[in-house]
Amino acid sequence: MPDSASLSITCAGLTKIHDNGVAAVDALDLRFEAGRTTALIGPSGCGKSTLLRLVAGLDRPTTGTVGIAGLPPVQQARRGVISMAFQDPSLLPWLTLRKNVALARKLARQPADPRLVDELIALVGLEGFQETRPAALSGGMRQRAAIARALATRPQVLLLDEPFGAVDELTRRQLARDLPPLWQPLGTTTLLVTHSVDEAVLLADRIVVLSPRPARVVADLPVPLPHPRLPQLTETPAFRRIAARALQALAQGVGDNPALAAQ
Ligand SMILES: Nc1ncnc2c1ncn2[C@@H]1O[C@H](COP(=O)(O)OP(=O)(O)O)[C@@H](O)[C@H]1O
Ligand SMILES: [Mg+2]
Repeated sequence: MPDSASLSITCAGLTKIHDNGVAAVDALDLRFEAGRTTALIGPSGCGKSTLLRLVAGLDRPTTGTVGIAGLPPVQQARRGVISMAFQDPSLLPWLTLRKNVALARKLARQPADPRLVDELIALVGLEGFQETRPAALSGGMRQRAAIARALATRPQVLLLDEPFGAVDELTRRQLARDLPPLWQPLGTTTLLVTHSVDEAVLLADRIVVLSPRPARVVADLPVPLPHPRLPQLTETPAFRRIAARALQALAQGVGDNPALAAQ
């Protein structure tokens, strides 16, 4: 098992210019405190997935650095402390749901834990589908399976890239209530990319609003609401106030960009 110390993430002057010359991330300075959940919201194509891939060590920065507790992401990934769930979950088609989730622990060189695997499957609402193969699951169910798989290693760093895109609204709200209590006791540092402002307010301790490409920080908002965040919280004035500020920042970010304003 990885040690239980929480890991902070620091991006310093982080820049990524893709091979085709597209600047996706430009001189970003951001620090994500250990054990906290940060939602990243921003217009489509602004560089959110690129940022997450840099933090995961799946891509190398053009210039600048990412440090996870002071070490390069690739080194932390090798220790098995980083988990990621994408919008298009890459489950292995020939394995059952249970085996797909259990495989994550094997790949991270952690001992098997069938009880944890079944608990996580139940928690994402897929009880009864343990022996089902991915092709027989809906898109939303596959996304929930990917979340269970990401949590199966009890990660110190959890990177979620629009993980609820195909999940129906009701289930999404249930997951927003049930998931944070699962990773909070582990001290997991979580980055959640979403374009749902409500989802960001429900799940995160902090919302970073990004501008159109290349991403820069337009607003950095704390979410001082207690957990667990029940679905009805979305109707409260405190919730709506934070959501309105995030939306306003999003609109302002788009308006500030001369290229987009001219369109
Ligand atoms: N591997 C890549 N090669 C070239 N361009 C890329 C690559 N990945 C992303 N891009 C471009 O970088 C920009 C940011 O993409 P991305 O990080 O996926 O944005 P987001 O996740 O915010 O929608 C887009 O213009 C996209 O086309
Ligand atoms: Mg993306």
